[in-house]
Parts: sequence; structure tokens; C-alpha cells
Amino acid sequence: MIVLTAADVERLLPMGLAVESCKQALAMHAAGETTVPLRTNIPVPAQQGASALFMPASVPGLNTIGIKIVSHFPGNAARGLPVVPGQVLVFDGETGMLQAIMDGTSLTRIRTGAVQGAATDLLAHADAQVGALIGCGGQAGGQLAAMLEVRDLREVRVSATSFAKAQAFAAEQASLFSGCEIVPCRDAAEAVRGADVVTAVTSAKDAVFDGDAIAAGCHVNGIGSFTPEMAEIPDSLVARADRIFVDTQDCLAESGDIIGPIERGIIRAEDCLNLGDLVNGSVTGRADAQQITLFNSVGSAVLDVVCADAVLRAAREQGIGTQVAI
Ligand SMILES: NC(=O)c1ccc[n+]([C@@H]2O[C@H](COP(=O)([O-])OP(=O)(O)OC[C@H]3O[C@@H](n4cnc5c(N)ncnc54)[C@H](O)[C@@H]3O)[C@@H](O)[C@H]2O)c1
Repeated sequence: MIVLTAADVERLLPMGLAVESCKQALAMHAAGETTVPLRTNIPVPAQQGASALFMPASVPGLNTIGIKIVSHFPGNAARGLPVVPGQVLVFDGETGMLQAIMDGTSLTRIRTGAVQGAATDLLAHADAQVGALIGCGGQAGGQLAAMLEVRDLREVRVSATSFAKAQAFAAEQASLFSGCEIVPCRDAAEAVRGADVVTAVTSAKDAVFDGDAIAAGCHVNGIGSFTPEMAEIPDSLVARADRIFVDTQDCLAESGDIIGPIERGIIRAEDCLNLGDLVNGSVTGRADAQQITLFNSVGSAVLDVVCADAVLRAAREQGIGTQVAI
């Protein structure tokens, strides 16, 4: 059994590999080749309303079974510990033997970026030049890395709940990406104007930009909403979208960005296509440079397990990680 730290996961899962792993995961899931039981949420009320979330998946095509455990312990801030600790366990699909334990926080950030990267790669127009990123929190760096992995953007404009936050994020990221200007904006309106790719990754409960401000031909990603009460994407943009894709059909039960527009009669459930079906070639994507495309993600254990499997394979090939017998 191999133990892999956050630094190991960062090294073993470059964004290009993560994007391909996410495409593979969604393709297998859409084809009905995976088993992804409902996640189990264990409340821990005695610890300031803490909870532990267990998210398993089995992927026979890769001969692997895994589980990500992500907890939320608000009291950890005062203890100097991470508030959202996460780990992934990987088991051999043939023997059930534990193969690896790895950091789940870095894996989540990379794969959450990568699933957006998969959608942007498949749906944004090929010569996209300008990106916009709304939200500058923990997931934002992975989102930026993924946008730049799949398109040669000359400029990405970033905005958050304050200009100071956007400035700090832009300054931090500028050193990581040469050849692309990271421009802090005072608001989302400034960021999305004329952009070819827009990614929202916020904890917002209401739309974070004006749908009418989105240019024809834009590809929009909504990554942040994971409850019916959360939403980032305005109805006006959903109504303008020519093609709507989701990471899995879980979006129809969990994401306010999809549930709300369906309830309000703006779209129908059957308008929400699986990105995995686009990978498999059973549905079509963007038809021309003027169409607006929309992707919504709530995440899935299948993404975590397929990415963790890629990390494990790379660790074995490169001899990285600490071997432990248990
Ligand atoms: N789709 C997935 O697989 C997946 C995976 C992990 C996290 N998430 C979700 O993505 C969201 C972002 O995660 P995070 O870790 O970066 O969160 P975070 O709390 O670190 O950051 C949230 C960001 O949202 C910004 N924000 C909130 N309201 C806004 C508004 N109205 N306009 C502009 N910006 C606003 C905040 O300024 C902050 O920068 C969360 O809701 C999280 O649950 C989704």
C-alpha cells in the first residue's frame, strides 16, 4: 500500500492527465459502466455542526474501487487544523485489497478544475482568446489552470466579492502562468464582457453575472452550486444557451443552476445532456462559433476515483510515495 501526500498528488496529476481522466470517467459513467452509490453524510452535531461525507465509486473498466472522505469540522480553524480535511482510499477491483491512501484536498482541487477543463475543451470555440473567472476561493486556482490547459488564452479576467480579493488572487497566479495576463476586475460585468469562456466557481445563492452581457459564441461553466438553494448562472443565460451539458444527471437533483430553470419552465430536464455522451460521440456539441454552450458540475465520486487511479498508476511508474504494510 502506498501513502501519497498532497505534494505527491500535485506532482503525479498534471492538469492534462486530469482532464483526460475526467473525460474517461464521465464517458464510462454515461455508458453505465460504473457503480456510484449515493454519498453518505454522517452529521457530527457535537462538533459545531460538523459532518463527514463518504463518497464511493467502483470502476470495473479500470479494475478499481475507491472512496473519498471529505469532512467539514468548523472547530478545526481554532485548532490550527484544516476545516475541510479530505482523503481518498483506492482498492484493487479484483482482490479488494487496499492499494493507496492519498491526500484528497489536492485531488479535489485538480479534478474540479479538470472536469471544467474537459467541458471547455469539448465545447468552447477553438480559438478562444479571453477567459473570465468569477470566484477566487480555494477551487479557483485549479479552474484557472484547467482553462489555460485546454485553450491558449491571452487574458483571463478575475473577479470576486471584493476587488482586493481579485487583486490578491491575480498577483498570486500571475507568477504561475506566463504568456497569459491575469487581470483583476472590480466586478463580474467587467470580467465577462466579450469573454470567450466564463467560469463561475463561487458559493453564491444568486446569479453572479448578467446573462445579457455574455457574448455570442461564449462557453460558460457553472461549478460552484451543489444544493438547490445555490445558483451562479442567471436564467437569462440559461435561456440563451444552445447546448446544456452536465457532469452527471446528479445536477438535476442537486444544482440550483439546473433545478431552478427547470422549475421556472426555462429548460426541460431532457435538455441537460451528459458530457460523457459527448465524449462517447452519442450526442453532438457546439454546432457553430455563434452558439452559447453551458456546462454545470456538482462533482461525482467517479471523477475522484478515476483521477486517484491515474495518480496511483503514475506513482508506481515513477516510484513515488511511501510504501506501508498494514
Ligand atoms: N463541482 C464540483 O465538483 C465542486 C468541487 C469542489 C467545490 N465545489 C464548490 O465550488 C464552490 C467554490 O469552492 P471554493 O472552495 O473555491 O469556495 P471558497 O469558499 O473558498 O470560495 C468561494 C468564492 O466565491 C466567491 N463568491 C461568493 N459569492 C459571490 C458572488 N456573489 N459573486 C462573486 N463571487 C462570489 C467568494 O468571494 C470566494 O472567492 C463551492 O460552492 C464548493 O462547494 C464544487
